[in-house]
Amino acid sequence: MSKPSLSAEQEALYRLIEDTREHVFVTGRAGTGKSTLLRHLTYNTSKQIAICAPTGVAALNVEGQTIHSLFRLPIGLIANGVIDQNDATRKLLNAIDTLVIDEISMVNADLMDGIDRSLRQARGRRAEPFGGVQIVMFGDPYQLAPVPPRGDELRYIEDHYRSFWFFDAHVWVGETSGDGLIDIGSHGAELHIRELRDIHRQADPVFKAMLNAVRYGRVTADIAQVLNDAGARKPPESSDDEPPIITLATRNDIVTSINRRHLDALPGRSQTAKAEISGDFGRGDLYPADPELQLKVGAQVMFLRNDAATYGEPPRWVNGTIGTVTRITGGTVRVEVDGQEHDVEPAVWERFRYAYDSASRKLSRDIVAEFTQFPLRLAWAVTIHKSQGQTYDRAVIDLGAGAFAPGQTYVALSRLTSIDGLYLSRPLRPSDIRVDADVQRFMAQALRPPAAPAPEAS
Ligand SMILES: Nc1ncnc2c1ncn2[C@@H]1O[C@H](COP(=O)(O)OP(=O)(O)OP(=O)(O)O)[C@@H](O)[C@H]1O
Ligand SMILES: [Mg+2]
Repeated sequence: MSKPSLSAEQEALYRLIEDTREHVFVTGRAGTGKSTLLRHLTYNTSKQIAICAPTGVAALNVEGQTIHSLFRLPIGLIANGVIDQNDATRKLLNAIDTLVIDEISMVNADLMDGIDRSLRQARGRRAEPFGGVQIVMFGDPYQLAPVPPRGDELRYIEDHYRSFWFFDAHVWVGETSGDGLIDIGSHGAELHIRELRDIHRQADPVFKAMLNAVRYGRVTADIAQVLNDAGARKPPESSDDEPPIITLATRNDIVTSINRRHLDALPGRSQTAKAEISGDFGRGDLYPADPELQLKVGAQVMFLRNDAATYGEPPRWVNGTIGTVTRITGGTVRVEVDGQEHDVEPAVWERFRYAYDSASRKLSRDIVAEFTQFPLRLAWAVTIHKSQGQTYDRAVIDLGAGAFAPGQTYVALSRLTSIDGLYLSRPLRPSDIRVDADVQRFMAQALRPPAAPAPEAS
């Protein structure tokens, strides 16, 4: 990804993270540059940071580790159970100054408290939130939510928390943790919520205002009509001067069948590229690409990685770029992007694990597994969930039987750089616009301007 220089508000936030030890939650509407700031922090900080994310795909995206593997937490509810820590984990957690968590909206309250308890325990500082570690979180609660708990987990969360969202964790809210071992205190840790306000993905103020209305569930009949009128057209067939368009759909089975239908309709023989997997890459759903990628000449594909461009050269593609396969040989796949053909070679995804090196007293990041495959996937369609974080100039939005998750329609529409790129497979319905009530409550309170000028501690 090309690296834009930071805007003034991004720079100010970077300084806040770098120059203080405050816990910061960096939020903001889609396209305000949260991920851009996170990447800048990764490359420029002088602190010992560990980067993690709730899911394998999100962790790979920021070259971090999943929360569960970094903390060696058990899968499922952590609750008040004993947290087993071996010597290596303790040393590692002792060496961190700052813990950076991306896609924080997908972290539930129980896991947030699990992180707090792990750090207190490992660092032997049980009275201090997060054992004294600075926590920096990135995300937008109006987008993806945690996987909803079920059964006993649901009952536990309902009994112990106001909601399953990370912001309702005991460590912030200030209630007892229930096991008596840890003193959360009556106020909880102080969370500094900072919002990036300038949207970089879209330029048109009218489209930005409409996206905002979708975000907050305040879509008027007029707004719906403008969006529906703009989107009510058949997408053009891709051709020499018509670059391909991607469909964003609600469910995996819809995506698979759209991709399969298009692949089958192409003439010629399909070829399969098998991924090479070494080390422990975890379960199949954590794979960063298809273990068996089926391609044909003419297939519409999306890049899954940024071009490792030669230094000084502009990248030929970025993660999310769409192109068309023009030739398949043993070792390379030729892909046409905007009229230019590029030979694409397999890419290696590395699964990282942090370790503490007592000799240098530094954190090191080791590679524990590798996955080698062409950085491509069939891209006539992807799920809206997988499109999270991406930017597209044009897309067909297929809400099928209806959006089922809060924020889903907002994520889909906000991927587009302009309304000129909007195609709707059917008109938006009021029931497609869903906003989570707990998010509304928290964000309204969090971002309310202070009544009096806030005294800045120096
Ligand atoms: N300071 C900047 N100057 C110019 N372009 C920027 C700047 N910051 C971000 N961008 C661009 O804006 C787009 C959106 O940025 P980014 O993906 O970081 O936003 P985000 O807040 O993480 O969005 P999302 O919530 O959708 O994940 C990207 O194309 C990025 O390159
Ligand atoms: Mg992002």
